[in-house]
Amino acid sequence: MATLEKQFAARLVAWQRQFGRHGLPWQVSDPYKVWLSEIMLQQTQVATVLGYYPRFLARFPDLATLAAAPVDDVLALWSGLGYYTRARNLHKAAQMVMQEFGGAFPQQRADIERLPGVGRSTAAAIAAFAFGQRETILDGNVKRVLARCFGVEGYPGDKAVETGMWQLAERLTPAAAADMQAYTQGLMDLGATVCTRSKPACTACPMLDGCVAANSGRTAELPQRKPRKAVPQRETVMLLALYQGQVLLQRRPPSGIWGGLLSLPEFDSTLAVDDWLAANADGELLPAWPEMVHVFTHFRLTITPQPVQLQSLAGSACHDDGWQWLPLAEAVDAGVPAPVRKLLLQAQGLR
Ligand code: ADE
Repeated sequence: MATLEKQFAARLVAWQRQFGRHGLPWQVSDPYKVWLSEIMLQQTQVATVLGYYPRFLARFPDLATLAAAPVDDVLALWSGLGYYTRARNLHKAAQMVMQEFGGAFPQQRADIERLPGVGRSTAAAIAAFAFGQRETILDGNVKRVLARCFGVEGYPGDKAVETGMWQLAERLTPAAAADMQAYTQGLMDLGATVCTRSKPACTACPMLDGCVAANSGRTAELPQRKPRKAVPQRETVMLLALYQGQVLLQRRPPSGIWGGLLSLPEFDSTLAVDDWLAANADGELLPAWPEMVHVFTHFRLTITPQPVQLQSLAGSACHDDGWQWLPLAEAVDAGVPAPVRKLLLQAQGLR
């Protein structure tokens, strides 16, 4: 086993005892109180939870009281914490412990994990804090600590990377049950106070000398971010047919991008514009304007504006269904798509 892997638990436990967070109201052995804190802390900061936790416990001092209460009372005390599914699950889980575990909070991680609202990491935290079970947590903060310390490549949300991290986290878990509270709290504290997402305080870290990221200047790159999906690219040529202060517009189909809006007529290529011109109008292509890129949620559209010089309005296509000539000034205000409006304003400047 690599050096830091061997020393990790001992270093973390010693660090937590000296520099970690102590005196938090949920650092007790009552599994009900531990469980409640872990649920509250799932999506809420410590500082906020400190304002809600004592009030909640004052009204529901134990599991039986919580299980017997109307769910609306539970929701009322959760009010302001957000993510109210947590409160509903909490209430449901309390009833489940009463019915299925005879009112005794389960001690095994696998049993705790069966409670609604409790995932593997939360179950492990409860098992470790309340019962000293040798179970490892792996939340977002812990993934960051491990990715940096051990140079774990890949996006931790990726199934294979995550599986590898669970295995690593399990190898790191200390042998002694007596260390489990300090160790588990230490993982959380290191991630929250030292190995932070940005500007980690590496000089205060007990793992500094063995940390892959710190020693290769890669704390900003590890853990790796979610790979961005390549955004599909589409291209279009927009016809800017101008004649005596008027511009040719076309109504777009009712569905799809810019559904039903008036817009500039579109072609697949400059060649297609040329063909259209030859068949339908008396005019010639001018040099294309610089490309414009318009970003949609799901793709990027590269627009090549293609102006044409018309000699007359002869030709039939201009009178087809959905095609219409409008004075430029009116076209600008006709509710056209944003990049088209930009082109029309540019064209106005040219007149
Ligand atoms: N976040 C989740 N669990 C926590 C705990 N026990 N202490 C501090 N922050 C936490």
